[in-house]
Amino acid sequence: MKHYNIAVIHGDGIGPEITDATLAVIGAVAARVGFGIDVKRVAGGARVYEEHGVPMLPEAVQAVRQADATLKGPVGLPEVRMPDGTEAGMLGGVLRNGLDLYANVRPIRLYVGVKSALRDVTRGIDYVIVRENTEGLYASRGKGVGNQWAVADTLIMTRPACERIIKYAFELAKQRDGAVADGVRRVTLVDKANVLRSMFFFRTIFFEIAQQYLEIHAECLHVDAAAQALVIEPEHFDVLVTENLFGDILSDLGGATVGGIAMCPAGNIGDDAAYFEPIHGSAPSIAGKQVANPIGQILAAAMMFDHLGEGMGAELIREGVASALDSGRVTVEADGRVAGGPLAVAEAVIGSVEALQPE
Ligand code: IPM
Ligand code: MN
Repeated sequence: MKHYNIAVIHGDGIGPEITDATLAVIGAVAARVGFGIDVKRVAGGARVYEEHGVPMLPEAVQAVRQADATLKGPVGLPEVRMPDGTEAGMLGGVLRNGLDLYANVRPIRLYVGVKSALRDVTRGIDYVIVRENTEGLYASRGKGVGNQWAVADTLIMTRPACERIIKYAFELAKQRDGAVADGVRRVTLVDKANVLRSMFFFRTIFFEIAQQYLEIHAECLHVDAAAQALVIEPEHFDVLVTENLFGDILSDLGGATVGGIAMCPAGNIGDDAAYFEPIHGSAPSIAGKQVANPIGQILAAAMMFDHLGEGMGAELIREGVASALDSGRVTVEADGRVAGGPLAVAEAVIGSVEALQPE
């Protein structure tokens, strides 16, 4: 029997309850498909920072590097801050940059039975935002300069980072079935090339790489127009590729159209390591109240299975979630909360997985 070593970072706030719920789903699906999972708990986040002055100890980072894949809960607590005023306990610096996990892959999919913030979603929503994860404006993470009069954060775009993220987006589009509206395989670059030199550079490289993928439609859109288009015609999109901060903002916008950011998973993927997480934060105000929605975390586990080559397990998780939502066994409130809390949702998803007929 195949065995995978999975590192799990429970994180802060609602992190432990939604990762535990997800581990229950993972265990059930692995047993059903017939592969084994060894889970290693790894500490990371704001509480670790309070104790050790770093968000993760070096041996914890090493465990993520060595694992077959990592499942990570949300981290951070608003009151735990760095000397420069930014939030402490974030793992972007140590994991995204430290392990060079350059592709932040964020599927935005509306499940039947979930209420969208949009008026008309009859055509469905199913696209992926590919967010550059190592530079852009976040190149300034932990490095901004300034004094009491002025502060500067620098946006950096390098050719190698632009090339690899654009290629990632085209390769992903190859594997998908195209946009909901017309079935066209399409990669949309989201930039601000009318104003910023860095973005014109990004766009130039985008059209260079597009030449290698003539079977895929390549187009570009300014980020402001993209924000409108994702609301007005989400069905037009298939794969979007964009700068780090733009991808951060647009993925929350996308989340709002599919029932809230709690519904949305993400993969942070590099050539040598990867971790999977929900796109939302640790929501400490609702921790322990049995209302946190674990679906983004559960769908992150599906992405992790895909990454491990366990496509059938991944599909079982997604189908289990889809059927639990469609049948009303799981209901997501307008504010994103779920009735019964994370474990009840996990049980409903497991029940749905068990009821699915083998292919
Ligand atoms: C995300 C989050 C992080 C980010 C925060 C927690 C640093 O918002 O993964 O989208 O901005 O990248
Ligand atoms: Mn975000």
